Amino acid sequence: MGPQAFRSSGDLLADRRFDYAMAAKADGDLTAAADLLVQALEIAPHWAAGWFTLGEVEMARGDHGAAATAFRQALDRDPTDMFGVQLMLARLGEVGAAEAMTPAYVTALYEDYAPRFEQALREGLAYRGPEILLEAVARARAALGRPLNFDRMLDLGCGTGLAGEVFAPIASTIDGVDLSGRMVEIARRKGIYGRLAVGDLAAHLAALPDASADLVVAADVFIYCAALAPILAEAGRVLSPGGLCAFTVETHDGDGVILGAGLRYAHAAPVLREALAAGGLRPLVFEPATTRREAGQPVPGWLVVAIRG
Ligand SMILES: C[S@@+](CC[C@H](N)C(=O)[O-])C[C@H]1O[C@@H](n2cnc3c(N)ncnc32)[C@H](O)[C@@H]1O
Repeated sequence: MGPQAFRSSGDLLADRRFDYAMAAKADGDLTAAADLLVQALEIAPHWAAGWFTLGEVEMARGDHGAAATAFRQALDRDPTDMFGVQLMLARLGEVGAAEAMTPAYVTALYEDYAPRFEQALREGLAYRGPEILLEAVARARAALGRPLNFDRMLDLGCGTGLAGEVFAPIASTIDGVDLSGRMVEIARRKGIYGRLAVGDLAAHLAALPDASADLVVAADVFIYCAALAPILAEAGRVLSPGGLCAFTVETHDGDGVILGAGLRYAHAAPVLREALAAGGLRPLVFEPATTRREAGQPVPGWLVVAIRG
């Protein structure tokens, strides 16, 4: 789960035990893998990645108590939680799902993913979030009888700039924000963004003046945000009257917000509608849509375009 670059314990003997453990795991011998990891951690008890991996192996063995103990050891050694320990503890029912996604985890995930991101999403997962957002924004503007162009677009969780590329023909300026500096660097090289910031989208929105954007886009980003009401409230404040907020989310058949098996949030329709209303945003497009496929299957989601009244 965590980035491979952080796998070394700094001790050759512990690293070797870890490698043997991974070989045993690959052979399906989870008991041997757990024993070898415990040996590695006796040599390198400070090693967060080692404890995290022990937690994963214990979880796979079905020993949830031992898994939770190992995950908590990992968290003690890395309180920023770049490995996503809280997500695993949430899967075990030990912490609430809403608090489980940490900025350090998302940042580490995308710092690692950045060089492969576009090929993996476009070719591997048939990702088309920006395209379906543009098409929905075009429909919303047509229904309003307004032209399809915007002065100031803000791209939340801009990543490598795929949405910027798709929206560039209809936006005079595009600013972006993303947690991952490596993703932002790729976006910057495309030369289509004005200001690009590295940071959390909620904090970024909170620092922007009222009515300073005409279009806010969040393509495949709210899957990392449990509570959308405060974010959409800020997006509503930052939008000019008549401005649009367009985003995609993953969804599920139940109620509320859940953490899915892919360690991303899925929002049910009623919580989305409540969050939009809290932000003073009125949906113009609210329809089922899928931005990408996973294991060959379309991932269920919602496509939303809302107007600031
Ligand atoms: C699946 S990618 C989508 C990137 C881009 N919007 C696109 O359509 O290609 C999700 C992006 O959201 C960013 N992200 C997730 N949570 C964030 C947050 N709270 N603040 C800023 N960026 C965030 C990640 O770093 C990652 O680059």
